Amino acid sequence: MAIKKVGVVGCGLMGHGIVQVAAQGGFQVVALEAEQKFLDSGLGRIDKSLAKLAEKAAEKAVKEGKASAEDAKAKAAADAAATRARITGSTNKADLADCDLVIEAIVENLDVKKALFAELGKLCKPSTIFASNTSSFPIGEMGDASGRPQRMVGLHFFNPVQLMKLVEVVRTPKTADDVFADAMAFGKACGKAPVACKDTPGFVVNRLLVPYMVEAMKMLERGDASAEDIDTAMKFGCGYPMGPIELTDYVGLDTTLFIVEGWTKRYPNDPSFQVPALLKKKVDEKKLGRKSGEGFYKWEGDKRV
Ligand code: 3HC
Repeated sequence: MAIKKVGVVGCGLMGHGIVQVAAQGGFQVVALEAEQKFLDSGLGRIDKSLAKLAEKAAEKAVKEGKASAEDAKAKAAADAAATRARITGSTNKADLADCDLVIEAIVENLDVKKALFAELGKLCKPSTIFASNTSSFPIGEMGDASGRPQRMVGLHFFNPVQLMKLVEVVRTPKTADDVFADAMAFGKACGKAPVACKDTPGFVVNRLLVPYMVEAMKMLERGDASAEDIDTAMKFGCGYPMGPIELTDYVGLDTTLFIVEGWTKRYPNDPSFQVPALLKKKVDEKKLGRKSGEGFYKWEGDKRV
């Protein structure tokens, strides 16, 4: 694989996780943010996550009889420190110029993403592969904006990136075979199960998941069942780890609204892409879910109250 150094643009909810799993996969990573305070916050989350994972790894090693508690702790801490040492924070885009792969994880706004790729297309070395972590926008349009559509893929990770095993690797009709193969290999090296998909709205997961979340919100709007009962029904009836209402809070109501509104505009005749009034109302009230402390439920950090 030609990829050794990776740049990640955006160190927020998804970006910080992508930075971390890439570093865990052995890559040198540049984490880029617009402002130092956002960078500090993202790197702080990585530190917390690495500490938690180290704690779990040490517990597992002891349980399996592979090491004494002291040795297991020391090894897990050393591994976490080595991962952290592979990450460099930056607020200067020029630091991405020599990256072999640059992954975008910024705001879910196509114009902003296209402008970023146009800039990166001028700044990065000719061999740099570009990837977007977009949930729903066409990868091909970003590839065209970059000026090197043959070196553009989608790398769609799932939240929380550190724990969710999937990455969707999206190829457009213009993506070169070797670029796609490198992107698949990168996903695997990050400890994920990569699946290949075409550049279609929502790829595989969100095309199924988002209409399901929308249906659950419409059910709630109609008063067919309470949020708790909808979630309990899907958890215990289908074995999902979270119900659809809690999951909407977890993903972010604003993110979900961006996705559905984007699709409604592009595909006005598709009945599965409709914005629930309740979702719009909550976002207008700044109730964005876990990230703002309240959505359909109340949250304290990562835990539902
Ligand atoms: N890093 C390290 N450790 C973490 C972590 C992180 N980022 N997040 C949680 N953990 C730890 C917790 O601290 C906890 O540790 P503990 O056992 O010592 O308390 C452990 O992982 C388990 O977490 P929880 O106790 O919170 O609970 P669960 O066992 O339910 O696992 C979950 C949490 C993995 C999030 C699980 O509930 C789940 O799979 N939920 C569904 C998530 C999902 O569907 N995500 C996809 C969303 S769609 C998407 O992202 C696409 C986008 O485009 C919209």
